[in-house]
Amino acid sequence: MDPQPVPVAGVVRTAAAALAQGGVESAQAEARLICAHVAGVEASRLMLADGLDRAAVAEIERLVAARTGEGIPLQYLLGTAPSGRLDLAVGPGVFIPRPETELLVEWVLARLPAPGGGVRPVVVDLCAGSGTIALEIAHARPDAEVHAVELHEPALQWLRRNAATRADAGDTPIVIHHGDATDPELLSDLRGEVMAVVSNPPYIPVTDQLPEEVLGHEPATALFGGADGLVVAVPLVDLAATLLVPGGHLAVEHDDTTGAEVAAVVGRQGRFGTVEQHTDLAGRPRFVTATTCDVDQTAQEGTHR
Ligand SMILES: C[S@@+](CC[C@H](N)C(=O)[O-])C[C@H]1O[C@@H](n2cnc3c(N)ncnc32)[C@H](O)[C@@H]1O
Repeated sequence: MDPQPVPVAGVVRTAAAALAQGGVESAQAEARLICAHVAGVEASRLMLADGLDRAAVAEIERLVAARTGEGIPLQYLLGTAPSGRLDLAVGPGVFIPRPETELLVEWVLARLPAPGGGVRPVVVDLCAGSGTIALEIAHARPDAEVHAVELHEPALQWLRRNAATRADAGDTPIVIHHGDATDPELLSDLRGEVMAVVSNPPYIPVTDQLPEEVLGHEPATALFGGADGLVVAVPLVDLAATLLVPGGHLAVEHDDTTGAEVAAVVGRQGRFGTVEQHTDLAGRPRFVTATTCDVDQTAQEGTHR
């Protein structure tokens, strides 16, 4: 005879205690997410579940041990991360989307011309990782032509997987490019046709002290931007300048120590006006935006793709 199911509340309590003891800050919330994941229910419905069998309890114990012992990020253990209105697949090899990147997505979405005006906005996400920026824009704006560029193969695999999932769910498919965002020739067939370039490049200055959890598990190629944090950002701004239409928009995320430098790089580039620095939800400097200032005949005639 099968043993009695184990009551959910007790399993959550035990998992939360182990997580807290292992130094996890949001132990209660993480315990609920891990238990819900294993039980195969929404976290909000976890307490309505009948109980967990021994195999489920053992799996929860395994995940809690991986979280506390090896410091594996919760999102890698669950296999998904929230990304605005979407959930994206994540795991070793790809950067976990962060809430602050939402601010860039919202900024860009607010600046695209309203749908139905006869213009198909072209948007480029440079350094796409899991696809959080590109896929959220494609989800919010089915009329947009969205391109996502990623250099590193492990991240590219997650990007392809998430793009296929979103296309299957009915979103307009994005166009994926295996390329280097520092290459001035990248996307040359889109030159002068892009309405918005958005990027969350690797930007941490290599001297920064990082929490062990980040250092140990997310790829260094997604995190570090050279000694000054600008190794990818600077050529990327030049590339964006070649891609954008007159009156096109740029949004670039940066380290909280490099806002002034990134704004200066964009200002010096020569093609951008209205360079603005923005903070994240915690009030830290987080991204720079700008708009190309030269209006020419091409734009007035509305010959965008
Ligand atoms: C900070 S992560 C951001 C990922 C995603 N945009 C996000 O916000 O979650 C930076 C991404 O840029 C990629 N990358 C690094 N250098 C690159 C380059 N030169 N060209 C294109 N992608 C690059 C990394 O592999 C990583 O996926």
